[in-house]
Amino acid sequence: METKASENDDLIRAAVLIRERAYAPYSRFMVGAALRCNDGSIYSGCNVENAAYPEGTCAEASAIAAMVAAGKRHITEIVVCGGGDAPCTPCGGCRQKLREFGSADLRMRMVGAQGDVKLVRTLSELLPDSFGPDHLDF
Ligand code: THU
Repeated sequence: METKASENDDLIRAAVLIRERAYAPYSRFMVGAALRCNDGSIYSGCNVENAAYPEGTCAEASAIAAMVAAGKRHITEIVVCGGGDAPCTPCGGCRQKLREFGSADLRMRMVGAQGDVKLVRTLSELLPDSFGPDHLDF
């Protein structure tokens, strides 16, 4: 799928770039994620696998960790970049991690290795009726 010029934005470029740094020797499935905060800043991350397989980290989790380490808390948008034909949608665990720092209308764009937009969803579409920090406001 071809990238429309209007969709070739800074967030997509950041996700495509960071994907090249993925450490995925076991699955060989490289993923990059770039998120934008409410102040406009961008944080990105890639997947980091491990010989003890369950210890691997997803790209989205890496990006969230970078954001939190920088003292930020609010995600307004995220781009996930993966290879292959199917859109690389976040795993269930990462959807929940995004729920911690994003609102129901958080825009999530899934793009291919060249930055071509394959799927656009909101967080609530990918994680309906979710449980979040607001539930613990007692
Ligand atoms: N992966 C991500 O980093 N993000 C996703 O959205 C889906 C999957 C990683 C985990 C693992 O390193 C590899 O892709 C194959 O599952």
